[in-house]
Amino acid sequence: MACQWVIVDTDQADWVQTLEAPAQALREGRLVAFPTETVYGLGANAFDATAVEGIYRAKGRPSDNPLIVHLANVEDVWKVATAFPTIAQRLAARFWPGPLTLVLPARSQLPRVTLGGLQTVAVRLPSHPVAQQLLRLADVPVAAPSANRSGRPSPTTAAHVFADLGDRMDYLIDGGPCLVGVESTVLDVTVTPPVLLRPGGIPKEVLEATVGTIEVPAPLQPEEHPRAPGMKYRHYAPQAPLLLLEGPFPAVVRAAQEELRRAEQAGVSTGLITDRAYAAQLSATVVRILGDPGETQAAAAALFDALRAMDQAGVDRILATPWPRRGMGEAVMNRLEKAAGGHVRRVGAPDEA
Ligand code: TXA
Ligand code: MG
Repeated sequence: MACQWVIVDTDQADWVQTLEAPAQALREGRLVAFPTETVYGLGANAFDATAVEGIYRAKGRPSDNPLIVHLANVEDVWKVATAFPTIAQRLAARFWPGPLTLVLPARSQLPRVTLGGLQTVAVRLPSHPVAQQLLRLADVPVAAPSANRSGRPSPTTAAHVFADLGDRMDYLIDGGPCLVGVESTVLDVTVTPPVLLRPGGIPKEVLEATVGTIEVPAPLQPEEHPRAPGMKYRHYAPQAPLLLLEGPFPAVVRAAQEELRRAEQAGVSTGLITDRAYAAQLSATVVRILGDPGETQAAAAALFDALRAMDQAGVDRILATPWPRRGMGEAVMNRLEKAAGGHVRRVGAPDEA
């Protein structure tokens, strides 16, 4: 199949019409990649098992990793879930449409493949106008994981999607770069208190202001079964090995300088993913500044593109400096840790300022 790349500009009067053919394609069981406020998704009719199987094939995704079902309206929750607890309704009223995914008990009519064999369904209402309009026109719940090849960083532009999936979908709707830049926060609301399954577009503290304490599962032990199946797979991985440093600024600067000096001596090219303050102290083969120190929202928006840029530059290794673990910083550090595949080095005494 050949992919049709459709550019949608919401400033143009006829932008909604350009979504009619892709929406019909979704209804008819074909695959459509589309922008959301977080990352691009690869969508299929959630009730069409054959179409959903196509998503797993296109991504090379393990079949036990369930998909998020995207809805146009809050009332559509009842099409896919058997319960919508009060706490979930409060969260939905406050944060939908937006980058929050709620895990609810699933309707048995949903195909097994959409749920990755689980009894629960993850749902969200995206806030991106193109995603919303597409869902409205398609008039079916749309299962959509991030539109990357499994294991790669999630796509934040149409070009990222095409680089990974090429002609493996029927339509690629190009709505420009995604503003949030990391995936939605996934929250299990089938249990009390709710459990944070994946940090993401809405910080945990912000959710807690609405619903009180949210539980964070302890780090997984090897062999243990994660509650969000996707979190057990190597993810966000650039081709080059990535080392993430964590610690107070002066200690990270010293450790990074030492790493970069040794790499240079050994003729190893290094890509640096960092903020403006560290960048002023360090020099590497390729430098990507995600933003000013502590600007975790800017970092989230620029992170996946930076990881992909390192692959394109073909650096031998990547070094990343830390972001504060608050606000969007929690999601940024989570994705960097995953990209590092466990290569996180803590430096400096804990009381060093
Ligand atoms: O922002 C996002 O969430 C993007 C956009 C496209 O909406 N989607 C996305 O989907 O990131 P995906 O498939 O790449 O990640 C979904 C995560 C995975 O870790 C998956 O295991 C988890 O959500 N998940 C899905 N259904 C679940 C369920 N019923 N219970 C627990 N975890 C679930
Ligand atoms: Mg994904």
